[in-house]
Amino acid sequence: MTCPFPPGSPTYPLKAHVNEVTRAGLDLARRATADWGTEFDPDILLPILILHDVDKPLLYVREAGGAGHAQLYHELPHGVVGAMLLKDLGFPHSVVSTVATHATNAPFHGANREAHVLHYADLFAADHALRVMGKTPFYLRHGR
Ligand SMILES: [Fe+2]
Ligand SMILES: [Fe+2]
Repeated sequence: MTCPFPPGSPTYPLKAHVNEVTRAGLDLARRATADWGTEFDPDILLPILILHDVDKPLLYVREAGGAGHAQLYHELPHGVVGAMLLKDLGFPHSVVSTVATHATNAPFHGANREAHVLHYADLFAADHALRVMGKTPFYLRHGR
């Protein structure tokens, strides 16, 4: 079964979003390394990119014409649920904390380099998904 990316988006699967975030994030990391000499630990960056939305299948339920919010969505924030899973699985703290705070509405974001890459890769890919769905991308919402 495919999981939709956000609610009301039956045409845009979560796996497509995750693949786009992962590819964009790897491209950004390569660029940062080439231009700025910024090094990334692939054992930290890759799980962050691939697993940043791992909790979404637990937060949404499939409904006619798209998806709605599961009960858990109203109990814990997106990102925090994923971080709890990753903590249980033994991922390093930097992976857990970055996933916990990556959501656009999180009270703050991680200051590590991987969080920086994830932020822009995630928004880049999310804005593409929103365009495909005929919705307003985040970068065009400022001031609205
Ligand atoms: Fe997310
Ligand atoms: Fe995402």
